[in-house]
Amino acid sequence: MASVATLDEARIDAFFDQLVEELGATIGAALVVIGDKLGLYRSMALSGAVTPGELAEHTGTSERYVREWLGAQAAAGHVEYDPDERTYTLPPEHAYVLANENSPYYVGGEPMIREAFRSGAGVGWHEHSQGVFEGCERFHRSVYAANLVSSWILALEDVERKLHSGATVADVGCGHGASTILMANAYPSSRFVGFDYHGESIATAHIRAAEAGLNGRVRFDVAPAAEYPGWGYDLVCTFDCLHAMGDPVGAARHVRESLHPEGTWLIVEPVAGDRVEDNLDPIGRIHYGVSTLLSTPASLAQEVGLALGAQAGESRLRAVAASGGFTRFRRVAETPFSLVFEARP
Ligand SMILES: C[S@@+](CC[C@H](N)C(=O)[O-])C[C@H]1O[C@@H](n2cnc3c(N)ncnc32)[C@H](O)[C@@H]1O
Repeated sequence: MASVATLDEARIDAFFDQLVEELGATIGAALVVIGDKLGLYRSMALSGAVTPGELAEHTGTSERYVREWLGAQAAAGHVEYDPDERTYTLPPEHAYVLANENSPYYVGGEPMIREAFRSGAGVGWHEHSQGVFEGCERFHRSVYAANLVSSWILALEDVERKLHSGATVADVGCGHGASTILMANAYPSSRFVGFDYHGESIATAHIRAAEAGLNGRVRFDVAPAAEYPGWGYDLVCTFDCLHAMGDPVGAARHVRESLHPEGTWLIVEPVAGDRVEDNLDPIGRIHYGVSTLLSTPASLAQEVGLALGAQAGESRLRAVAASGGFTRFRRVAETPFSLVFEARP
């Protein structure tokens, strides 16, 4: 493959932007079907500006789902967001296409999530199909391969030194273990264990570790974030999973208890600003979309069901860490898809 030095960077950027748009549109297709089938667009066409709570009430749906869906719709430019009033409006021209069955432009899913909009119940991560788990692994692995060892670990205070000299590391909510395996390859003196509540994902992680020739250097176990075993870890990581947990504060508390007093919690979360209006761009569109279909339902399916959403933003994540007993919290890196934080006891 050609090295970056010989490539046209403008062309890479343009193609990356194109793929981001296409990914947002693909995820958005399921949300358009949901909006149509649940009458969300038709209701907005009649009501004018609405809050998520009002739209949920008008359509007999759950406010938390509708709020995430509206974020995705605003990021896609399907609806308009008013940050002062915190209301969303479907412009009449868009209503003509999305909500008028007699219009020549009328375009009109995911049945499990659509039903959850009505009931407000969660849909567990484990209830999805293998394609979701593999898609998640492949998307995240490329982001972690490009950043984790070469940049994020270096940005943490004194963590790289410990990893080279021999540290113990827990990767919580590890899924198929892409991040665990990348770290285990880079730091042969350290010991790594990946935990996830989802047994099927842990079974796949075992296979991935064997394929990478890492048997013995990496362990994977089924355990929820609030109860995984072990203590005195030098580093605990949560990669793109804290927001999908039902009780992120409970998880934070357990991370705090399981850490060495000088240890570090590395938190990687989808890039987001604190306010809806900060996230109304092509990447926010992807994250709000995935959040509506996967992360928010996954959290609602668990005890507490805090449903941070994939666009939680730094302030909410900082509050979660503080509630878990962490006294220090700082942003150490940001990439097009990720925010990276260091939390210390
Ligand atoms: C979006 S995936 C991220 C997986 C992996 N960290 C990655 O970066 O590819 C979210 C993961 O969180 C896990 N998860 C959700 N709630 C959990 C909990 N309470 N305890 C442990 N794992 C949990 C899911 O099973 C899933 O593997």
